[in-house]
Amino acid sequence: MSSPATRVKTPVALRRYAPSVPFASIDELESALARASYLPDRGLATALYLSLKLEKPLLLEGEAGVGKTEAAKAIARALDARLIRLQCYEGLDVAHAVYEWNYARQLLHIRAAQEGTVDESELFGPDFLIRRPLLEAIEAEERVVLLIDEIDRADEEFEAFLLEVLSDFQITVPELGTIAAKQRPYVILTSNRTRELHDALKRRCLFHWIGHPSLEREIDIVKLLAAEAAAFVAELRALDLQKPPGLAETIDWAQALTALGSQELDVENVQATLGSVLKYHEDLLSVRDETLAGLVASARAR
Ligand SMILES: Nc1ncnc2c1ncn2[C@@H]1O[C@H](COP(=O)(O)OP(=O)(O)OP(=O)(O)O)[C@@H](O)[C@H]1O
Ligand SMILES: [Mg+2]
Repeated sequence: MSSPATRVKTPVALRRYAPSVPFASIDELESALARASYLPDRGLATALYLSLKLEKPLLLEGEAGVGKTEAAKAIARALDARLIRLQCYEGLDVAHAVYEWNYARQLLHIRAAQEGTVDESELFGPDFLIRRPLLEAIEAEERVVLLIDEIDRADEEFEAFLLEVLSDFQITVPELGTIAAKQRPYVILTSNRTRELHDALKRRCLFHWIGHPSLEREIDIVKLLAAEAAAFVAELRALDLQKPPGLAETIDWAQALTALGSQELDVENVQATLGSVLKYHEDLLSVRDETLAGLVASARAR
């Protein structure tokens, strides 16, 4: 029998990092992602679940097109949370990633005041701040999903800066002070591994390598597109069109979407390929903009 002194207790630090997760289990997360048109393998679903559970950023690496970016978009849809995306590139700096002062607005304000009675602290107040994705995510009232896409494209100095943000979830604007996250955002970073990331960044993240899908999974993913395309065409047939699309159009359209590398419907790829489905100018005109966005949304939600 173990004495009280040798009994292992859960360390306080570990208990603190077990917030409630919006999904009761990995299975539940998988189902929610499937409803959001994303079919992860078990390894990715587990990594996503743990990232939510431990409130730790998740670094996704893998070849191009394996679903890294879409994983973040899908988890946002599954959580019904706002997605804030920071697209990284060479030369990305704080002014484009975090915040910058709105100089034009400051000048206008000074001009409007005429007498030169503008207080400097007024000019460097929240109204004159342009919020870029990182600050937007930290300031958000609700819990958001922050996607830091293609971090390997950013310079190493930016990666070093990011370390601080991901450790403390706070940002200092010298003129305003330190702004701490009200709710920790769920963070997903992606990398195509064009360069190796620093160990210090990796230490702050969970890591998952997304490989190419198995044959069965790839068939399932392609079927998702087929199901969405068929649902969209069914919706079109319910409209008052000169020439409702037939099965031949559906097949042509699926080929056009595949030729463009689409694996799911979105407004952009539907707009680009609609000529495969609708052959009358009037029909194309009547399915523009809002109608089209609505049809895409309901085909995806079917
Ligand atoms: N598991 C999946 N379930 C459903 N769709 C998927 C899955 N994996 C990939 N896709 C689809 O594959 C396409 C490519 O995915 P995505 O853009 O996320 O790839 P990526 O890894 O970010 O590529 P890149 O490195 O080029 O940015 C998207 O249309 C996405 O919806
Ligand atoms: Mg991507």
